[in-house]
Amino acid sequence: MDIRIAPSILSADFANLERDIAQVASADLLHVDVMDAHFVPNLTLGLPVVARICEVSPLPVDVHLMIDAPDEWAVRYAQAGAASVTFHLEATSDPAALADRIRSAGAHAAVALRPASSGDELLGLLDAFDMILVMTVEPGFGGQSFMPDMTAKVSRFRKAIDASGAPVSIQVDGGISRDTIATVVAAGADTLVAGSAIFGATDRTAEIAALRARAEAARRV
Ligand code: DX5
Ligand code: ZN
Repeated sequence: MDIRIAPSILSADFANLERDIAQVASADLLHVDVMDAHFVPNLTLGLPVVARICEVSPLPVDVHLMIDAPDEWAVRYAQAGAASVTFHLEATSDPAALADRIRSAGAHAAVALRPASSGDELLGLLDAFDMILVMTVEPGFGGQSFMPDMTAKVSRFRKAIDASGAPVSIQVDGGISRDTIATVVAAGADTLVAGSAIFGATDRTAEIAALRARAEAARRV
């Protein structure tokens, strides 16, 4: 799987979003965190804002839904122009069915795991998803510390995906920086979300290049 760098706009300047989005155009995906103040104790933005971001973004938009009701909302983000829509396993009773509805609406479908979720119930359903998101922090806030224990979960999913033959990406999100990116890529992650590392840098293009170089160097052949 190709390495993909996905800047998270949670750490961008929300009063200058279009400017900040343009500054990360050398990345591969634009990661947009939707939080509802119920599934996580934080509130960000919703459908009308994401629809406008999809119109102005030079990159495919990767929506990460941290909401209680993905069965009700996920398809609408696909219809609004998201390239991929990720919902949390903990928030739905039938993840394969929801992924199927997202795919039917024209987007890639992904399922996210909180740090406490093993995701074992997904192992027999891997081909239902385009991507598995292994959270490497407790979802809700940017700028938290990477949880090194999560690399074991990444390895387990990479082995299961390779054995299944399904072309499923593994995304990691939370605490990804120049210091932590190699360990998750070596474990089998290919899609790397970084918020504070990229938007906290003065030269965002240079930071994306540095993250990409470290990821490519750590990539398994
Ligand atoms: C947190 C979000 C992340 C967040 C990551 O729940 O899902 O996408 O922006 O931020 P950093 O990279 O700063 O840990
Ligand atoms: Zn996220």
